[in-house]
Amino acid sequence: MARILITSALPYINGVKHLGNLAGSMLPADVYARFQRLRGHDVLYICATDEHGTPAELAAASSDMDVRAYCDEQHDIQKRAGDGFSLSYDYFGRTSNAPNIELTQHFAAVLEEKGLIEERVEHQVFSIDDDRFLPDRYVEGTCPHCGFERARGDQCDNCGRLLEPTDLKEPYSKISGSKNLEVRETAHLHLIQTKMEGKIRAWVDASTEWPSLAKSIAYKWLDEGLRDRSITRDLKWGVPVAKDGVARPGFETKVFYVWFDAPIGYIGATWEWAEANNGDWESWWRTDKGADDVTYVQFMGKDNVAFHTVSFPATILGSEEPWKSVDKLKAFNWLTWYGGKFSTSENRGVFMDQALDILPGDYWRWYLTANAPEGSDSAFTWDHFQSLINKDLADVLGNYVNRVLRFNKSRFEAVVPAGGEWGEHEDWLAGEMDARLKSAAENFEAMEFRKAAGDVRAIWALGNEYLTRAEPWTKFKTDPDAAAIGVRTALNFMTVMAKIAQPVIPNAAATILDALGIAEDERAWPQGEAKTLLTALPTGQSVEPPEVLFKKIEEADIEAWSERFGGAEG
Ligand code: MF3
Ligand code: ZN
Repeated sequence: MARILITSALPYINGVKHLGNLAGSMLPADVYARFQRLRGHDVLYICATDEHGTPAELAAASSDMDVRAYCDEQHDIQKRAGDGFSLSYDYFGRTSNAPNIELTQHFAAVLEEKGLIEERVEHQVFSIDDDRFLPDRYVEGTCPHCGFERARGDQCDNCGRLLEPTDLKEPYSKISGSKNLEVRETAHLHLIQTKMEGKIRAWVDASTEWPSLAKSIAYKWLDEGLRDRSITRDLKWGVPVAKDGVARPGFETKVFYVWFDAPIGYIGATWEWAEANNGDWESWWRTDKGADDVTYVQFMGKDNVAFHTVSFPATILGSEEPWKSVDKLKAFNWLTWYGGKFSTSENRGVFMDQALDILPGDYWRWYLTANAPEGSDSAFTWDHFQSLINKDLADVLGNYVNRVLRFNKSRFEAVVPAGGEWGEHEDWLAGEMDARLKSAAENFEAMEFRKAAGDVRAIWALGNEYLTRAEPWTKFKTDPDAAAIGVRTALNFMTVMAKIAQPVIPNAAATILDALGIAEDERAWPQGEAKTLLTALPTGQSVEPPEVLFKKIEEADIEAWSERFGGAEG
């Protein structure tokens, strides 16, 4: 039994996430966690809300709320959305909670001791009317290159050029629109990443188990050369630089930059888990306290990779303390909405809470896994969604379960029938199943989720093909024993179909396994001889058809949803 620590990138607190966020971090992490639990491993799956920074402050202000109260509320909303999608976190913590604050301050102090922190004076735009320094992207104005009037202080969205806020003509505060701005001096702590370059590169070189997308992004950043980066901000909401009320001079009211404390939140949330469950968080995170046998797997969208392969490692490795670092880093491309961006303001795309309003979590889980943005970006379209759900879930899986269990009820009194002999059709099924099962397990293990879903689908399809060969329906009148072995094998095969579906569609799988009378502790990933797996159900065990598993998506649904959430023309 291996110990596997799994984290998915921590979702920002400001607002419910859309399906693209779900597809590129939380969902695959959950599928992987469920798979590894089914394999009998000791899994700890940790996530949290990423709560600090300017966007959280502004979102709170625009809902007229105190930022802490806003975060409390949003944390609960995100937790509920996660539950609705059956995300099986062992703990869903918060970066604003005490453990993360303590750890963040600890790391800063240790990095300082190691000579990796320097105080440097910067020039930054201050908005007098807002009474605050403005982060670069909250200063807007006219682009000096193309004349675009709403260029951001970090980049012009019209011509794409990188900018400094002081490059902008007629700059104004994005927060209030005020033009009453000035450049002020402000001191910030910088993490001297340039000193760490060799160490980080050696660590990336040694990380042989990262899938290729993560690895190539990491090298791209290393090849460009690391830059020292400022890890503090002039904000009110964040982890205070002052520890226990004691601050370094000039830093009394400053906080750490959100990207400094957020990844430390993985450790903080594990600590929260330990407090809530009488667990030992250090045995997962400290290699001197038992974590040397942990495999740590991270899931994230590609925009997060640099932070996890360079910045966070700079914190971890720079401390020279025995912290666990990531072993496998699975990154995703984008799920797009008809090839474009999801956008709340433009009514394009479905957000997690809205998705659950229209269909249960399993429908989305299947689609987003089978269509995972793995090798490249993948586009959500209502037509594609409809066709995958109707074919895979309603026809191939749902219909099989329904047909077999109903026939068994009408002909064999809803118990696993005795009679008949294992023969050529059963041999065929066992052989096909064996090969596909291996492939499915390998693909889940390798975090190739699209391929894994393809294997699961192919195994489901074998069920229907077996029925075509064994023909229990037709045989019932002339040869009841042949019908009995056919139905019995079909029922046994249904247990396999459901067990391997559990990582992706846990609720539907549980409904099927309940219907088949499979006990909770007998739902592990199917392992061993195919023939043994296909003859495991005791004859006479009662098996009842469940309610309809999946309803088909109709044209009218698609029309209504396209109207509500945007579609082809959106
Ligand atoms: N909140 C960030 C995002 O959504 C991800 C933070 S991951 C963490 O892009 F590790 F830093 F927390
Ligand atoms: Zn421009």
